[in-house]
Amino acid sequence: MGGDVGYTVDTNRDFDVVQVRKDFPILERKMHDEPLVFLDSAASSQKPDYVIQKMVHYYSQEYSNVHRGVYWLSDNLTNCYEQSRETVKKFINANSSQEIIFTRGATEAINLVAASLGQTLKAGDEVCITELEHHSNIVPWQMLRQRSGIIIKVVPVSEKGEISLSDVERLISSKTKIVAVSHVSNVLGTILPIKEICAIAHKNGAVVLVDGCQGIVHQQVDVKDLDCDFYAFSSHKIYGPTGCGILYGKRELLELMPPYQGGGDMISNVTFEHTDWAELPAKFEAGTPAIVEGIGLGAAIDYFSSYNIEDVFGHEQKILDYATTRLSSIKGLRIIGESDTKVAVISFVVDGTHPHDLATVLDRSGVCVRAGHHCAQPLMDKFGVIATVRSSFAIYNTLEEVDALVSSIEKARDILC
Ligand code: ALA
Repeated sequence: MGGDVGYTVDTNRDFDVVQVRKDFPILERKMHDEPLVFLDSAASSQKPDYVIQKMVHYYSQEYSNVHRGVYWLSDNLTNCYEQSRETVKKFINANSSQEIIFTRGATEAINLVAASLGQTLKAGDEVCITELEHHSNIVPWQMLRQRSGIIIKVVPVSEKGEISLSDVERLISSKTKIVAVSHVSNVLGTILPIKEICAIAHKNGAVVLVDGCQGIVHQQVDVKDLDCDFYAFSSHKIYGPTGCGILYGKRELLELMPPYQGGGDMISNVTFEHTDWAELPAKFEAGTPAIVEGIGLGAAIDYFSSYNIEDVFGHEQKILDYATTRLSSIKGLRIIGESDTKVAVISFVVDGTHPHDLATVLDRSGVCVRAGHHCAQPLMDKFGVIATVRSSFAIYNTLEEVDALVSSIEKARDILC
């Protein structure tokens, strides 16, 4: 009893993509009688059997509610859940597990900051974002603008898909209270200079929230080294389950912030006249959490960390280089986002084809890519397109899958053009 699920992940495993693929059961299946080529991990990654089996075990053998029962099942699951928080803390090098808030995902984490810290902003205060943000890092600030009359400043993106630090310097001032930026663009793959942005923001007295959805899975994240004030990410993009995410926040800020939602677990004492809040992190975790999903996230991080992460990133960079070269050789194909510092996410358009049509034809060859605006419509406007096709790569992808993508695009072009 007590969390031994009969599975272990070896640490310091040598990275071997053939072996890695065996860890992900879905990769064995066919799609329309073709091998599945899954190139949409930026939307949601596939899950290793290690995570799936852990979750099956906890749901089928060790399930109860957490933080509430004195019986073994509840006490045990509480410990496992809190162990997962500790795993996240170590993974991102936070100071304390009290700085790790479980949320439903990155979207809720960003909304939490906008709703809670946002209460301290007044009309005329500024929030600075960039042109490449996902809607989840735009809309919460617009909602705050409606409530409080704040001003939103937007750092532009260049043709290459980068932001310039001189624009950041120009747009951040003593009026800026919050800078909210992606670590890595979900459309362009660009890695943003977060450390430098944090230094500029802090010099002006602003705090920095990083949307780390793509960053957490393609970059080594050390929140102390970045010196960001908040870092938000979703479990399902880092090989964990859906319905769970993390808000890291510096303790001194979280202490000052009012709760986001009221309910069970986030209080220390309630009367009809007055309620005292619980200590961190419970203050921000009202209601029964996604318990097994939280444990699943810990398992996903254990799985991911069982490899030397630099080997994983090296493998992904090799795929990025190869895919960029091969895709660029396709007549009429234009890659959107050509930063020199990017991860293995490649958006493109092909002359004479609509991205949705192209993605639909690719699916018939077993190739799964995302087509659309990728929840970044202002960025589409910037590049003068209504949509792109996006291929996004992960730990389990291979160079042969890049070849499959390229040949299926060529076939699709013959059908569509
Ligand atoms: N944010 C996710 C994406 O890029 C869903 O695609």
